[in-house]
Parts: sequence; structure tokens; C-alpha cells
Amino acid sequence: MPGSVPPLVNRIDRIASTPEGRKYLADVLMNGVSGPIKANGTAYSAEMPPFRYLKDEEVAAILSWLSQRGNIKPAPSISATEIATARADRKSAGKVATEREELDRTQPLP
Ligand code: HEM
Repeated sequence: MPGSVPPLVNRIDRIASTPEGRKYLADVLMNGVSGPIKANGTAYSAEMPPFRYLKDEEVAAILSWLSQRGNIKPAPSISATEIATARADRKSAGKVATEREELDRTQPLP
């Protein structure tokens, strides 16, 4: 579905380069995110559903796998512990979008 959801390869590795970025990624998977957001110069305004039904290890493996597909070597990996921490701090998808805006100010997102 090009155009309806943001690209992840070559972006997740960059976002995951800091602890704050990894926290954001974990929050997206645990709570979803509801726009509007701007990624790679394109605006998106849809809602991503949460993936809480997946295990911490599974979510960590998906994010780490996507990170490995990017250009940063060695690729940052996301741990199951980071996912568990985000799981315990449930928030709305709108709150995650606000968190993204704040993160973008300190760590401009690709
Ligand atoms: C396990 C699979 C998935 C992963 C790892 C994933 C990951 C992500 C991440 C990290 C973001 C934030 C991107 C950013 O901040 O730049 C995002 C956004 C988004 N995702 Fe997913 N996603 C997945 C599955 C899905 C599915 C199945 C859908 C559609 C039903 C979806 C729809 C969206 C949408 C619409 C956004 C943008 C939300 C907005 O406009 O606020 N995602 N996804």
C-alpha cells in the first residue's frame, strides 16, 4: 500500500539509534499511532492499530529485523525488555503521536 503507511526500512534503524527512539518504536507497536505525522517528507494521517497480542520477543524480533534491513551497520536492535517496559505503560494512539512530535524536536526523525 504505497502512500498510505510510512516506509520503515532505512528509517527504523535511524530512529532506533537512541534509547528515546527505541522507546517510541516500542510505544507504536504497543499502543498504535494516530496521525497526522510526517515521515520522509510525506504526511500521513491514518491510524496504526496496536500489536499487543504479539509477545515481547516477537515484537522485538520484527523491529530488529526491520532495523537490520537499513543502512546503519551494525544495526541497532530492540530488546524484548524495551517492549515489556512499553507494554506496562499503556497510552492512547494519539499520545504516541504527541510523543513523536516531542522526539522529532530533539532527534529529527527521518
Ligand atoms: C508488525 C507490523 C508493523 C510494524 C513493525 C509497524 C511499524 C510502524 C512504525 C514504527 C510506525 C511509525 C513510523 C514513524 O513514526 O515514522 C508506523 C506507522 C503507521 N503504521 Fe505501522 N507497523 C506495522 C503494521 C501496520 C499495519 C498492519 C497497518 C495498517 C493496518 C499499519 C499502519 C500504519 C499507519 C497508518 C501508520 C501512520 C500512522 C499515522 O498516520 O499517524 N501498520 N508503523
